[in-house]
Amino acid sequence: MKHLKLSQTGDLMPSLGLGTWQAPSDVIESTVYKALDIGYRHIDTAFNYNNEEAIGKAISQWISDGKGERKDLFITTKLPHVGNRAGDVRKFLDLQLSRLKLDYVDLYLIHVPFGFHCNQETLTPVVKENGDYDLDMTTNHVETWKAMEECQKNGLIRNLGLSNFNEEQIERIIKNSTIKPQVLQVELHAYFQQMELRAYCAAHDIIVTAYAPLGSPGAKDHFVNKYNYSPETFPDLLGLPEVKEIADKHKKSPAQILIHFLVREGIVVIPKSTSENRLKENIDVYDVELTSSEVDCLKKLDKGEGGRIFNFLFWKGVENHPEYPFKGQISNQHAKA
Ligand SMILES: NC(=O)c1ccc[n+]([C@@H]2O[C@H](COP(=O)([O-])OP(=O)(O)OC[C@H]3O[C@@H](n4cnc5c(N)ncnc54)[C@H](OP(=O)(O)O)[C@@H]3O)[C@@H](O)[C@H]2O)c1
Repeated sequence: MKHLKLSQTGDLMPSLGLGTWQAPSDVIESTVYKALDIGYRHIDTAFNYNNEEAIGKAISQWISDGKGERKDLFITTKLPHVGNRAGDVRKFLDLQLSRLKLDYVDLYLIHVPFGFHCNQETLTPVVKENGDYDLDMTTNHVETWKAMEECQKNGLIRNLGLSNFNEEQIERIIKNSTIKPQVLQVELHAYFQQMELRAYCAAHDIIVTAYAPLGSPGAKDHFVNKYNYSPETFPDLLGLPEVKEIADKHKKSPAQILIHFLVREGIVVIPKSTSENRLKENIDVYDVELTSSEVDCLKKLDKGEGGRIFNFLFWKGVENHPEYPFKGQISNQHAKA
């Protein structure tokens, strides 16, 4: 349960990783160093989190302090929305590797299936005068994927994957690729259990990684002033009475129960924390034995699409992109009233 084997390479992916979204550079450097000391071997970052450089410093310091070796770490990062085109893959990957001070990443994901035009000075999306994001309507996943395959052949990436893609989009890549997607990273937690997508991934030997496994409590602050998004509608999974009751019975915390519930199902989980105590808590989840009625109780929390937090509609106009992944699936349950 502590590791899952990836298709095609046979690499072992730790089933618990450290999420790093919303962890600022000045904090994440010491957090990652601490996390590695505590026993984390899997770190999840992205170009868009603006913290790859600090994470790189922590990793290289930890290795040069003689605490461990690069080969024992599993580092994931992601191609950003502003670089979602074949011609930009190598440019972004090279920049990310230099920020991370690494020769290769263990896993490289296309962060989102849609693409934005890129401001070349700031490497951020171009936003029009009316506030709409300047969509790159030419996004072509198969071509982007081929460029990633090339980087894999050149030894810069060990494994390839996708994030926030729907089944049809994954299928298109499977049919037109040499290296099949090995990992899919999506929002997944007790309120949004993604049963269909998980079955599809299992049938195609794709490991699923759960982001926002605790319901992303920190997203409430992040989205507070975002376009058409109303964080007070976000769920409080850590405060659910069902979860608290199970946690009390097992002398664990609600977070540990939410994480264990996913890990026991063969899902990779990447909770984010910058607190030393919570880092320790979140990795200490393997010794729980849930009863079948407790598992049923947690399974029944699933709200299907109604549980989704990350619909990306805070990027004004994104639903008009031809590759917006959730077309027809969601009403914006987090729209401002
Ligand atoms: N691919 C994508 O599009 C995508 C989208 C979102 C996230 N992600 C990835 O998935 C990771 C996890 O998602 P997330 O950060 O949104 O949400 P999350 O891991 O569900 O929740 C993180 C939040 O919970 C708090 N927390 C952590 N452990 C806790 C505990 N034991 N008890 C109480 N509170 C706790 C953290 O605060 P403290 O730091 O103060 O502990 C933080 O505010 C991200 O960091 C990122 O790496 C990927």
